[in-house]
Amino acid sequence: MTPLPVIIDCDPGTDDAIALLLALASPEIALQAITVVGGNVGLEHTLANALALVELAGARVPVHAGAARPIRGEFTSAPRAHGENGLAGVTLPPGGGAAPGLAAEIIRAHLRAAPAPLTLVGIGPATNLALALLAEPDLAGNIAQIVLMSGARAGGNVTAAAEFNAWSDPEALAVLLAAGCPLTLAPLDLTHQALVTPSRLARLRAAGTGAALATACAILAAQPPHPTLPGPPLHDPCALAWLIRPALFTARPAFVAVSCAEGAMRGQTTIAPAPEETANALVLETLDADGFFALLGERLSRLP
Ligand code: RIB
Ligand code: CA
Repeated sequence: MTPLPVIIDCDPGTDDAIALLLALASPEIALQAITVVGGNVGLEHTLANALALVELAGARVPVHAGAARPIRGEFTSAPRAHGENGLAGVTLPPGGGAAPGLAAEIIRAHLRAAPAPLTLVGIGPATNLALALLAEPDLAGNIAQIVLMSGARAGGNVTAAAEFNAWSDPEALAVLLAAGCPLTLAPLDLTHQALVTPSRLARLRAAGTGAALATACAILAAQPPHPTLPGPPLHDPCALAWLIRPALFTARPAFVAVSCAEGAMRGQTTIAPAPEETANALVLETLDADGFFALLGERLSRLP
């Protein structure tokens, strides 16, 4: 199968870290660039973490800094879930330097120059992806698919109403939902099927002996326990697993909207089943969780 040309926009972030390692270990993904946004922690940490993760994987992928704050409103991080450094306190050897160019401009340049449409994966606040399309809307025609970990059918994880990525920059999510390109959404009700239970973590640890796998497991083990679930959800790798092994999922078309109003409902997403003709997203609904964790172990064990 021809590797899929992909750009990942992320805010590492513990689960972003696993998603990046999964992408870097998977031959199905030809990672063209990684762009970074402020989200789980500030941009200075998310950028340093992305650079260190590329180094840990022994990869050579350009990493570009992006937006430090949302299109509208203030920047708010999530250190409770990810720790002050964004990797639950696990420190990695530093990576190389960031590549020149700001995320939105780099995404535009890649979309303009790509010989075939690119896949964009957004696993943080969608600010960089939205800024690229706001500046050059016609580039939507050069996008094969946007895959977002964002939103929720009901409830939230940062407020009672909203999921963190959607809440952090709802205006950016609204831009992508209106862009008219194929868009696949992995909302909270999907990612909450990918729980890092102690037995799954033990099986992951046993999958190999490389430093990258050991580091991934150390990051997962250092996460705080989830207040209500039997293990922390592994949100962002679900977006990559959709591209690598779509058979792990079921999905249905829907019309997705996000509230940009100020107040308690800001960032709330509504996901209404819709026929393909009127849908603006394909929403992932179920996950074969054991198959997902088996894929994770098989791929992360390939890394050095
Ligand atoms: O709500 C989960 C999402 O918010 C994940 O992308 C996590 O990394 C945080 O950014
Ligand atoms: Ca993230």
